[in-house]
Amino acid sequence: MSDNLLGVYNRAPLVVDRGEGSWLYDVDGNRWLDCVMGIATDGLGHAHPKLVAALEAQAKKLWHVSNIFRIPGQEALAQRLIDSTFADVVFFGNSGSEAIEGALKTARRYHFVNGAPERIDVIGFAGSFHGRTYAAVNASGNASYLEGFGPRLPGYVQLTLDDEAGIAEAIARPTTAAVIVEPVQGEGGARALTGEWLKRVRDLCTQHGVLLIYDEVQSGMGRTGKLFAHQWFEGVEPDIMAIAKALGGGFPIGAFLATKEAAKGMVVGTHGSTFGGNPLAMAVGIAAFDEIAKEETLAHARAIAAELVEQLNALKDKHSDLIVEVRGKGMLIGLKLVPNNREFMALARDHGILVAGGGENSVRLLPSLLLSSAEAAEVVTRLDAAFADARTRLAKAA
Ligand SMILES: Cc1ncc(COP(=O)(O)O)c(C=O)c1O
Repeated sequence: MSDNLLGVYNRAPLVVDRGEGSWLYDVDGNRWLDCVMGIATDGLGHAHPKLVAALEAQAKKLWHVSNIFRIPGQEALAQRLIDSTFADVVFFGNSGSEAIEGALKTARRYHFVNGAPERIDVIGFAGSFHGRTYAAVNASGNASYLEGFGPRLPGYVQLTLDDEAGIAEAIARPTTAAVIVEPVQGEGGARALTGEWLKRVRDLCTQHGVLLIYDEVQSGMGRTGKLFAHQWFEGVEPDIMAIAKALGGGFPIGAFLATKEAAKGMVVGTHGSTFGGNPLAMAVGIAAFDEIAKEETLAHARAIAAELVEQLNALKDKHSDLIVEVRGKGMLIGLKLVPNNREFMALARDHGILVAGGGENSVRLLPSLLLSSAEAAEVVTRLDAAFADARTRLAKAA
């Protein structure tokens, strides 16, 4: 391990070199079936030819200019997002955390310009993850992200997803500004909320003048087989939504979307970014959006996800002593495990497959949306071998 990098990551001993579609290669030419995909970021797999072409063409033209000028790519990508969602306006940044920061600022500012500056409380949920910046760790459900970084900032309330009465009571408080929730919790372990849950909270927010923020950083951009996870349900649209990850197909882009009403406080001088929405990012973002938003891509993702989940459920029956549950939505799949999830990730790697960790001792499968049927079968074959191996090692350890 290198000691010239800040030691904040628990890195696997895999020295990456290149990627192609669903496969990741190390510097020695070994390859792995990649079901991490930059944690749901390389939505179209590695080195998609259309993204490579867009990047190369734009690299020869113009990389970066300040947001004091009009950037046509921003307007084009914003319009695509607006045409396919609830939103009227878009702001581009560089990451999921930044998108969350912007979303939270927008919510508080809305109440400020409405003459209710006391409305600052943001209701978040156990198991949620919204990023590593200061506001994002405060909004996140896992208290360990805040440890040693000072007390929780004022205005962040944490509840559990099943606390129906507590949620209703908190939304009705006169100091509440917003609710922030992932329609499918990612880091929390691929936990999908129901349409009923989202509808109840949407209606309560509307009733009490509270803004609803969705964090679709991980669940968005085709991951669940719809462009955005909440679009599986009717009548649950948010006021503000943070997105990132697959939006840039691997190029760092984040954005928050809002209705005109929710965004009304965000006037000149209230927010900004140097790099956000630069021409290079927008060229790749447009190419990624046009591929992901195609019905053909989304239908493919839904079909492969259904195949995968069916086969994974069969695997759960076969290894019922090791797999507790198969869950998630679309291509955001979680396996809740009996063996330690971190140890299983290393074992899976030995069997040529990369999986991500998650809350509640789970591993997540976040493959390319373009995963083929044959590759999906290969995912299951490799996991099967890894589970058989896990059983042998568990028996030895016992
Ligand atoms: C749901 C969710 N929100 C926010 C973030 C933070 O995004 P970033 O790491 O790009 O800042 C993540 C990252 O994993 C995420 O999964």
